[in-house]
Amino acid sequence: MRQSSLVVVANRLPLDDSAARDGACEWRRSPGGLSGALHAILQQTPATWVGWGGEVDLAPRLPDLGSVRLRPIELSAAEQSGYYEGFANSTLWPLYHDAVQQPVFQREWWETYRSVNRRFAEAAAEVAGKHAAVWVQDYHLQLVPQMLRELRPDLLIGFFMHVPFPPPELFMQLPRRVELVRGMLGADLVGFQREQAAHNLAQLAKKLVGAQTRDDTITVDGRTVRTGAFPVSIDVGEMRALATRPDVVAQAKQLRLDLGKAKRVLLSVDRLDYTKGIEHRLTAYRELLRDGHVKVRDTVLVQVAVPSRERVESYRALRDRVEGEVGRINGEYGRVGEPAIHYLNQPFDRSQLAALYQTADVMVVTPLRDGMNLVAKEFLAAREDGSGALVLSEFAGAAAELTQAFLVNPHDLDGLKDTLLRALGAEPADLADRMSAMRRHIAEHDILAWARAYLTALDHTGRLARQLPG
Ligand code: ADP
Ligand code: G6P
Repeated sequence: MRQSSLVVVANRLPLDDSAARDGACEWRRSPGGLSGALHAILQQTPATWVGWGGEVDLAPRLPDLGSVRLRPIELSAAEQSGYYEGFANSTLWPLYHDAVQQPVFQREWWETYRSVNRRFAEAAAEVAGKHAAVWVQDYHLQLVPQMLRELRPDLLIGFFMHVPFPPPELFMQLPRRVELVRGMLGADLVGFQREQAAHNLAQLAKKLVGAQTRDDTITVDGRTVRTGAFPVSIDVGEMRALATRPDVVAQAKQLRLDLGKAKRVLLSVDRLDYTKGIEHRLTAYRELLRDGHVKVRDTVLVQVAVPSRERVESYRALRDRVEGEVGRINGEYGRVGEPAIHYLNQPFDRSQLAALYQTADVMVVTPLRDGMNLVAKEFLAAREDGSGALVLSEFAGAAAELTQAFLVNPHDLDGLKDTLLRALGAEPADLADRMSAMRRHIAEHDILAWARAYLTALDHTGRLARQLPG
């Protein structure tokens, strides 16, 4: 394989399973913030993307996607289970999200996590040109920076954590905490969504590996690693273009008619994940119906919950609970032809999402913990007419930027109910002011701005940033 001057290493290739199986040469985004974000910036940038195609025991030969070469990583069924479903998504994911679900510590998973990380590091070392930049992504690959540095000391290595990075009190529970911190410190620059996360890493580096810290730097074994906050964003231009396309506008109008023209629409769009606060939201909605504050004849909730990590037990259990609760609420409060909740457990393409976002009077985003939450930003970008309301959890990274949203603590059920009612009853002029401030913010802080800021901090010269589109 030819070598590249920019290599992205992420657990997933930006393809879903079916696209990988038939080898179709098109970007088919798998739902999830990371692949959406990177997909947007890499389409016109000469780079290689090292990742897993979502298939087991098969490393499909994939054609280039535009200017991006794909380097698939093969995983066996045992590796998928120990590395992806096990250590990444049953240990790290819940722990990093405030342990809202009990993290599972299973010793056998560690060896698999380590050997799969090594495979990613070796693949990256193979495709990276001399002095290339390698940008490693997320919690699945925390050991890669250090492994890669050992293999290829000439490389410039970046690491970006898309999910929250927890305070020492939580991180210290991890049996392999020293190795994980050392792994990340193999990078030249470690980026996070929030400043607090960088601070957490500095604290841990002092405590666990005897590092010295100063401002945004961590010095260990004679090497200095920089850290920083780079809040990720979306391709605002793409969402705005989709939202104004005549067929999408027509689809949105039709959806609105189908939902009931006179009704107020509450909309939520999530991966079906226990961090997203779906159950808290359903409870709040049920109580609003029970207390008569909202009625099915004038209000409806649309809950899109795309299937995710379905082989992991906690995700299956969540799905059962959510579907049981939706059934109960519809059974109790729905009327013939008028459900209280429209529940959609299916993937949608980008234009369908753009149409859906336009149907909402109130977009309800209530994660218990979220690195960023790109859905909130997509909603804002899709609302060309500046109407609508955003209810947003304080525990989403996005809340630090979108301060004009109706911010809420989803654990406070009464507070959540009040906030939903406040958003439903807000004056159009108030909503317009809030929306225009938030829309301005995301227009200035889009995905390209994120990538430029990160890559410029990584190489100092602007050379990498100049390869980005625009
Ligand atoms: P996470 O990164 O935890 O998945 P984000 O809100 O940051 O959460 O990103 C979710 C991404 O998944 C968004 O880009 C959103 O558009 C996409 N997505 C959500 N629901 C669906 C769906 N039903 N079909 C396709 N994509 C979806
Ligand atoms: C979050 C993670 C990503 C992950 C995505 C979807 O956004 O930060 O790394 O790709 O969720 O999850 P999945 O397990 O389907 O890749």
